[in-house]
Amino acid sequence: RLPIIIDCDPGHDDAVMLMLAVGSNRFDIKAITTSAGNQTQQKTLTNALKIMNLLGADIPVYKGSEKPLFRELIIADYVHGEMGLDGPVLPEPVRKHEPVSAIEAMANILRESQEKITLVPTGPLTNIATLLLAYPYLKPKIERISLMGGGAFRGNITPTAEFNIYVDPEAAAIVFNSGVPITMCGLDVTHKALVFQEDIDRFRALGNQTGNVFADLMDFFSIYYRSERPELEGGAALHDPCAIAWLIDPSMFTLKPCYVAVEVTGQLTAGTTVVDFFDVLKKTPNVDFVYDIDRKRYIDLIYEAVCGLP
Ligand code: BDR
Ligand code: CA
Repeated sequence: RLPIIIDCDPGHDDAVMLMLAVGSNRFDIKAITTSAGNQTQQKTLTNALKIMNLLGADIPVYKGSEKPLFRELIIADYVHGEMGLDGPVLPEPVRKHEPVSAIEAMANILRESQEKITLVPTGPLTNIATLLLAYPYLKPKIERISLMGGGAFRGNITPTAEFNIYVDPEAAAIVFNSGVPITMCGLDVTHKALVFQEDIDRFRALGNQTGNVFADLMDFFSIYYRSERPELEGGAALHDPCAIAWLIDPSMFTLKPCYVAVEVTGQLTAGTTVVDFFDVLKKTPNVDFVYDIDRKRYIDLIYEAVCGLP
């Protein structure tokens, strides 16, 4: 089982990412750390604890930064609602978060681990950048960063920027420049990783608790996509599970190694990932840029994971 640390901001698609990570039985999940993004740190932390509670998973959860490195926090309540995970009614979590910060916890895990660890960030990159800045000597202990963020040919918060990168561009720049191998699942692939009503019905028909929560989450999440993203023809973009699914079965994806830089100052383009897809700059690629997916296999993979959960 692949040792990983997940850094997330649940978040509807983050919650499904956690279902896939736990339910696949393919990972040794050392920790879950939370980023401020879809909602405030307090809310994403509570949501992560609630999902772990639902999944009956015995994994420690750590609280991350409250704010981006230099900027005020921007949230996505217009997608994820007032609690960041609106839709299902989830019981209050039994277990609390650990009394150590996310950054300290990640550093301790990396330091003490015999094997290299893969980081899976699916929110703004504030915590990961802070870790890399504070503990540069731990970089060799990181196998890879498999993240959801950015895009080459589209944005979702500005015409060219994706939400996770836009919230904390300076953090993203630190991560993309770090020299650690990166797999980037941006909007190019995640806007093809669609979940439709017939998929949601299939999960609800499972009859287990997690299947019902999946369906309640996706019913709420789909409201935004159906009204604001008509080009997706009724589908909702299930972004974050891509970062986990690629680790489980890269054969369902298409990627190209590319040089990627993050724009931090552009007046129109702050928070954009500049992906040199056509190798104009002739620079050494720093990112495995994922841009296509077999959607059916992806949904089936999540379905199988949810089948085995409570
Ligand atoms: C990303 O932003 C968040 O709203 C989602 O959880 C995903 O991580 C998509 O742009
Ligand atoms: Ca997210």
